[in-house]
Amino acid sequence: MSPLYLALLLILLAASVASRENKSSSSSSSSSSSSSIRKDEQTKMNAYIETLMRQMTVQEKIGQLNLVTPGGGIPTGEVVSSNVHDSISSGRVGGVFGVSGADHTRRIQQVAVDETRLGIPLLVGADIIHGFQTIFPIPLGLSCSWDMDLIQKTAQAAAQEATAAGIFWNFSPMVDVSRDPRWGRCSEGAGEDPHLGSQIARAMVQGYQGGSLAAPNTMMATVKHFALYGAAEAGRDYNTVDMSQMRMFNEYMAPYKAAIDAGVGCVMSSFNDVQGVPASGNRELLTDLLRQKWGFDGFVVSDYTSVNEMISHGLGDLQTVSALAINAGLDMDMVGEGFLTTLEQSLQEGKVTQDTVDLACRRVLEAKYKLGLFENPYLYSNSSNPENDNHSHEHRKLAREAAAKSFVLLKNDQHVLPLKKVGTVALVGPLADSQENMLGTWAPTGDTKDAIPVLEGFQNVVGDQVKLLHAKGANICDDPEFAAKVNVFGPRILIDERTPEVMLNEAVAAAQHSDVIVAVVGEASEMSGESASRSDISVPESQKRLLRELAKTGKPLVLVTMSGRPLAMTEENDLADAILHVWHPGVEAGNAIADVIFGDCNPSGKLSITFPRNVGQVPIYYSIRNTGRPQAGDKFQKFRSNYLDVENSPLYAFGHGLSYTSFEYSMVSLSKINLTGDDETLTASVLVKNAGDRYAGEEVVQLYIQDVVASVTPPLKQLKGFQKINLAPGETLKVDFNIITEHLKFYNQHLVYDWEGGDFNIFIGTSSDKAKMGTVNWDKDALAESGRSEL
Ligand code: BGC
Repeated sequence: MSPLYLALLLILLAASVASRENKSSSSSSSSSSSSSIRKDEQTKMNAYIETLMRQMTVQEKIGQLNLVTPGGGIPTGEVVSSNVHDSISSGRVGGVFGVSGADHTRRIQQVAVDETRLGIPLLVGADIIHGFQTIFPIPLGLSCSWDMDLIQKTAQAAAQEATAAGIFWNFSPMVDVSRDPRWGRCSEGAGEDPHLGSQIARAMVQGYQGGSLAAPNTMMATVKHFALYGAAEAGRDYNTVDMSQMRMFNEYMAPYKAAIDAGVGCVMSSFNDVQGVPASGNRELLTDLLRQKWGFDGFVVSDYTSVNEMISHGLGDLQTVSALAINAGLDMDMVGEGFLTTLEQSLQEGKVTQDTVDLACRRVLEAKYKLGLFENPYLYSNSSNPENDNHSHEHRKLAREAAAKSFVLLKNDQHVLPLKKVGTVALVGPLADSQENMLGTWAPTGDTKDAIPVLEGFQNVVGDQVKLLHAKGANICDDPEFAAKVNVFGPRILIDERTPEVMLNEAVAAAQHSDVIVAVVGEASEMSGESASRSDISVPESQKRLLRELAKTGKPLVLVTMSGRPLAMTEENDLADAILHVWHPGVEAGNAIADVIFGDCNPSGKLSITFPRNVGQVPIYYSIRNTGRPQAGDKFQKFRSNYLDVENSPLYAFGHGLSYTSFEYSMVSLSKINLTGDDETLTASVLVKNAGDRYAGEEVVQLYIQDVVASVTPPLKQLKGFQKINLAPGETLKVDFNIITEHLKFYNQHLVYDWEGGDFNIFIGTSSDKAKMGTVNWDKDALAESGRSEL
């Protein structure tokens, strides 16, 4: 240990007592999460960091802004850092990512603590997007549970497992609103809606960070990708984003803000440009909005080499773009080393000030302080820590529950599902016995070998009660070139040695000898995710052919569809009797699918993103605004807003999802229909009845509001609340929503966030396209208005 480090430790000692007390009192709370600390703690932190920074050279300060990945661990990008040991020991690294294991991270931390002049510990980060070892459903799937407790628990479990492996900084949650299923990364987010996305952002931050960042089993979260990455033009990854500010604030920004309000410790800037300026060099985003308007006090990390990538964006050479980034408010440079290699020169040339570098360095050091690293650099690298129990049994149970709750029953004609545990089932399709595609994209810390394939899950759940006839039936796709692009992280599309005809005939024969067919089809896991956009979002032709032949057998056809995005499944919808969409369900895939298919679990998932009829309808989302020539319904009318070749409506609407039971909604009852001013509360209620007599079921009761007349074209409907309820057969529950004027607010064309008086339609229902409506008039308070204008 260096003498200076010893001296710093002495300063810290005083702070540590209070901080330990703080830790024990707050780590038990799971409902609040914060990267901010108490006032007295803040004072101690400031003193500590002041003293530390006074000892630091300019090079050491710049070193803190450098984030490296040594490679060989968890691969998430194209380039990896070189000479990592030397860089760390010479004080040129502030954090590492893509490494794992308590012993491994301890050894890396030792280099920083023992070999550098000041012994400043490193941040150790990773992408833990939907679970660490226990992989939960992909985030888009999880979002269809609309279950915030569940989502928070999955994040907590991920934090427990990751911190046990020495990782305490997570590059999650990804909260990019996306209305474009072509974009492969919609799999990582919570879908199309800013309200639902905001609730999920908060739940995830709370799950990861718990009550205290310095607890040994919580990790610092990073909200990403700031900003608007989900709106990449044409759904092509990394592409340009350009939209009106009004749309930006009304439809895309809320989930980032929700994460910040929940106390997220870090923000990651996105790859894309926003109105001509790449996010990583965009001062309006990183300083004016993030810090000045939203009050974010953590640090901002770039995305993987996104500082350097501003060269390709056309903004100048490495020195120029690095200066642009730090001046914009970016604090840490991921992998590219633009900061490391050019900031000193920019300081000398006056292109960057010492204050700017100091501020960035201070923010990184503050994160380290809040994480408890100065008190104990090995807090998270302690393999004998009793906290490091992986809770694998508990977590797998949670994974099975989370998977079942993420499934969306899209169609169920004649109640084909659930299947009875008798007779013969043909279980066919290229994903029916696939282990390698169950975890889904962005699960680099998971092991595909831990996953339960569907066939195994069926065997586990129905044992000998049901005769299972299995056949692959088709390749995920027959094109080896396409397969090679998808197989970058290991084999996902395995092209069979047999001809497509032989496989198809085998599956049809199995179908003919069965009572019912369950076909597991869709996308391989890496057909979505980063750099995995598709211009055709249908089920690949090899599988369509299989489904057509299966349908011809006349046997009941159940589809279990997997994907990391909405698929255009118009033909499949016509061919199948039932469709259960399961996304990529995680380690417990097979068991959870069997639980739902055979009725041990009643599906309750609701779509968090619209399924189009075809890719030409994209972008398609429920909260559209009217044109001047709206078309009522789907029947084509000349000179109305429509298409010649497809209806306007989606195949499955946002919020859609069936159950094995049925729910009846009463009319909407309103506590009043005339309201005035900001102090009133409207209660809108419905009675929801489980009208079935067999299955208890969960239902997500959804509240939408439409501002009928406004100064800017109002969306036809916007989600403003939801409640997930559980009803026994025959049971009825009154569901109340309390509405205040906050629910009516929007950004107008001058970007003023306020509400406008008039009529409002209040919808409550089972999905965005099936809801009962009531209307209220809510006026602005005339007196308050005039009082306001006098000011
Ligand atoms: C992704 C980020 C990720 C980072 C580090 C990038 O390519 O866009 O989401 O956190 O890599 O792995």
